[in-house]
Amino acid sequence: MNGNLIIYNALVVTPVGSTARQGEEMKDLTIIDNATVEVTDGIITYVGAGRNEKREGFYQGYWHINAHGNCLLPGFVDSHTHFIFGGERSEEFSMRLAGASYMSIMQHGGGIVSTVKATRSSNADSLAENARKLIRRMSKMGVTTVEGKSGYGLDLDTELMQLQVMRNLNNDGCKLVDIVSTFLGAHAVPKEFVGQTDKYVDFLIDTVMPEVAKNGLARFCDVFCEDNVFSLEQSRKILEAAKKLGMKLKLHADEIVPLGGAGLAASMHATSADHLLHASDKDIKAMADAGVVATLLPLTAFALKEQYAPARTMIDTGCAVALATDLNPGSCFSGSIPLTFALACINMNMSIEEAITALTLNGAAALDLTASIGSIEVGKAGDFALLCTSNYHFLTYYIGMNCVSHTIKGGILLSNDNYFQTSC
Ligand code: NIG
Ligand code: FE
Repeated sequence: MNGNLIIYNALVVTPVGSTARQGEEMKDLTIIDNATVEVTDGIITYVGAGRNEKREGFYQGYWHINAHGNCLLPGFVDSHTHFIFGGERSEEFSMRLAGASYMSIMQHGGGIVSTVKATRSSNADSLAENARKLIRRMSKMGVTTVEGKSGYGLDLDTELMQLQVMRNLNNDGCKLVDIVSTFLGAHAVPKEFVGQTDKYVDFLIDTVMPEVAKNGLARFCDVFCEDNVFSLEQSRKILEAAKKLGMKLKLHADEIVPLGGAGLAASMHATSADHLLHASDKDIKAMADAGVVATLLPLTAFALKEQYAPARTMIDTGCAVALATDLNPGSCFSGSIPLTFALACINMNMSIEEAITALTLNGAAALDLTASIGSIEVGKAGDFALLCTSNYHFLTYYIGMNCVSHTIKGGILLSNDNYFQTSC
């Protein structure tokens, strides 16, 4: 469903372009005061100086909204999540608070495989219902596109079910977000294959991935490339097979130890490499040169009490950095966009302008969608986050609080929390 909409008296704040913004380009935002943005059938058809619109309401075929001088940003793109899952892992969270590490819990049969158990014993309806609740929350924080991964099935049927649930949600008539699906069968080794990781890799390549590709269920393939999970060689093998099947590539890289996943992502020209807490300077340079988006997930580092990814080094080296939430039931049960902004700026030394680019245009780049989303420009989707303030610095200054008063998807106004005024 798409709409016709005119937003007037807006302060447009947007990166521009139809490619990722790398390095120092990330700080360049276009700001248009007293702007009008017109959306026709879901697509932006005008951005520029106000055209003397005076009245709210529906007339001349368009809904008219007075933004009262508040900031209008592109809808946020959350380019890394695991939002389709069964069960929850609050107990594990408490174990971590008491000192256990994420990997030690995983090595003792908890972690990802415990969500696999819950997801396998769930069904498509309840997975979708759980996901809808999460999507409603994302939408209220201004998210208009979200990536979601499989990886809690680790068998043919449940992996396909997770991906099918995402496809169905994406085809909902009144959808709040666009969903981009990623196949992450190589998320952990399931109990049927313990001690036989190579055999599991072959099973994915020979049995699961061809089915995923045949049904067009995933745009991307991702691998948890990590010590004691999938090695560099196993990751390469899976990604090569995925490429042959027409999927684009992502990688969970250098999250816990410096294994060299970032370098692998660069050598394979992956669309993005994600986490990157321990990426080496050499691999960061290789990513910048290869145009691989560095997707950083500060909420996960925060929740696991780990060091943050070296965002400053990456930007100063010329990388395109994206920010995403990593929403999942284990390492990071949060999809908070406000907290992502705060951590990126306070703890990773990104500027607010860089963080905005990272959550909009570069998030789109991490999904290979810069031609259609990620900025407020003619020809792109009418997806916006309208703030409750005329000062975009509130996105970080108002720490962890939601400054989005209206989310607009394809020219349709979705949320109105009735606090639409010039101060938060
Ligand atoms: O991105 N690190 C691997 N995968 C997820 C965590 C998934 C889970 O713990 O359930 C992540 O952090
Ligand atoms: Fe992840």
